[in-house]
Amino acid sequence: MPTIAILPGDGIGPEVTDQAVRVIEKLNELFDAQFEVQTQPVGGTAYEMHDHPLPDSTLSLAKSADAILLGAVGGPQWEKVDRQLRPEKALLGLRSELDLFSNLRPAMLFPELADASTLKPEVVSGLDIMIVRELTGGIYFGGPRAIEGEAGSRKGYNTMVYTEAEIARIARSAFEMAMQRDKRLCSVDKANVLEVSELWREVVTEVGNSYPEVELSHMYIDNACMQLVRAPKQFDVIVTTNMFGDILSDAASMLTGSIGMLPSASLDSNGKGMYEPVHGSAPDIAGEGKANPLATILSVAMMMRSTFGNEEFAAAIEAAVKQTLADGLRTGDIAREGEATVSTEAMGDAVVDRM
Ligand code: IPM
Ligand code: MG
Repeated sequence: MPTIAILPGDGIGPEVTDQAVRVIEKLNELFDAQFEVQTQPVGGTAYEMHDHPLPDSTLSLAKSADAILLGAVGGPQWEKVDRQLRPEKALLGLRSELDLFSNLRPAMLFPELADASTLKPEVVSGLDIMIVRELTGGIYFGGPRAIEGEAGSRKGYNTMVYTEAEIARIARSAFEMAMQRDKRLCSVDKANVLEVSELWREVVTEVGNSYPEVELSHMYIDNACMQLVRAPKQFDVIVTTNMFGDILSDAASMLTGSIGMLPSASLDSNGKGMYEPVHGSAPDIAGEGKANPLATILSVAMMMRSTFGNEEFAAAIEAAVKQTLADGLRTGDIAREGEATVSTEAMGDAVVDRM
């Protein structure tokens, strides 16, 4: 039986993953799919219970499961905790322990929510971008790193480092993604200033020789930020480093005006993956039953497609979400002013009913 590890995490994480679990159970019922779900704490919630944001029991479940669904981690109550024990460390630990180097962050505009963006409708209508972010290397994990010295003359430093092998494997992920889409790939770097980017550009170009059908371009990160808000539809697939991808993907998610709708996947080289909504733990509305569960539900669809290779299950979920939106159900984050809103659970009900 395929096992799915559920790591609800903090803030609205448990509320949104609850609804996603109902969707998985519905797959079992409709298609006799036999997914088994197992749940463990992660992030601040795990820290409270086990003094660690990524306890052994959670890590070992994540390792043994076929796929992982994560809600969200973090919250103001853990901001003063030692850096090594902060909720965010659990995410970084899962990524590196499971070698989830390829982070797929789609940004697409749902036609039903066309006016949710802060950009003009003609700039974003039909938007469909895929950001492929390197997730286990670069400045996030590079050494040396420290804050050292005497008070008043301390220095802090990090190291942005990539090996040729690390660049080549994320480049291949991105070219493969481009092959399944519009066959256009833009690699984003800072090669005018950084040696590490110069190597990045060289290796991406080399990998591109094996994908003659894909049109490869290169852009500096500053220009890419500008182009992303100026004319986002020029992009199909973007590939970039860990930190640049962190920044670009937040900007891209906001283009759609509905960050509560966007799923993501973090994959290893065998297709095993951790799936999570792009949005965070939203502590301000946690526990109020207001959160939008659709990004987490759509993350399950991504899981069905990428890890389990099951297009039928993925399509069933996506069609149900589309119908739910078409029928006018809205949580607060995607409702227009004055429009009636439904609870997290009612949104889950609506999707499950339409599957
Ligand atoms: C993200 C987040 C994380 C990151 C944080 C919470 C460590 O911003 O997934 O984009 O920087 O990767
Ligand atoms: Mg981020």
